[in-house]
Amino acid sequence: MFNNPRRFGLILSLLAASVIAVPSYAADDDAIGKAIKGRQAGFQLYSFYAGQLFAMAKGEMDYNSELAATLASNLSSVANLNNGMMWLPKSDNVARAGDTRAKPEIWASDSDIGAKAAAMKDASAALASVAGEGLDALRSKIGDVGKSCKGCHDNFRAKDF
Ligand code: HEC
Repeated sequence: MFNNPRRFGLILSLLAASVIAVPSYAADDDAIGKAIKGRQAGFQLYSFYAGQLFAMAKGEMDYNSELAATLASNLSSVANLNNGMMWLPKSDNVARAGDTRAKPEIWASDSDIGAKAAAMKDASAALASVAGEGLDALRSKIGDVGKSCKGCHDNFRAKDF
């Protein structure tokens, strides 16, 4: 079998091709993992900024005008990033059980996740426009932000990984 040098060369190149093919499959798989991590990082930022604003509104943290204005402005900025590339097909919690809580319904043709995201953008922009103007002003707009988080999570985020 290996006494024909041409044939041996062919077998070697087939072997090389299969060695190259394996990492390229792994890279595709990893691209989905990275995208999931990226969007979760975005939500961690939401939580970091909004969490302190919720705490100020509830009186659990001292209201600070400058900090409130910055947190709300940052929340609004992050909400306006176009992170569409992080929502790859097959990155839902069925295809990637254990890695993500994103439900497959997000990708359904009748999904209204875009409207949910828009509600969060609007609510955070409205909050950012008043958050530095006193605790009452903050309180008047923070409720819609909380509702916008919940409105999306209720439909599109699973309770557990
Ligand atoms: C348009 C829909 C949508 C909106 C609006 C939204 N979320 Fe989420 N959120 C999700 C989805 C889907 C996940 C699951 C992501 C995943 O696991 O891949 C998630 C995950 C999270 C996580 C967990 C991230 C992690 O590390 O696993 C936190 C925290 C979070 N959201 C906070 C918030 C807060 C706070 C708000 C409002 C200020 C908010 N989200 C608004 C859809 C949304």
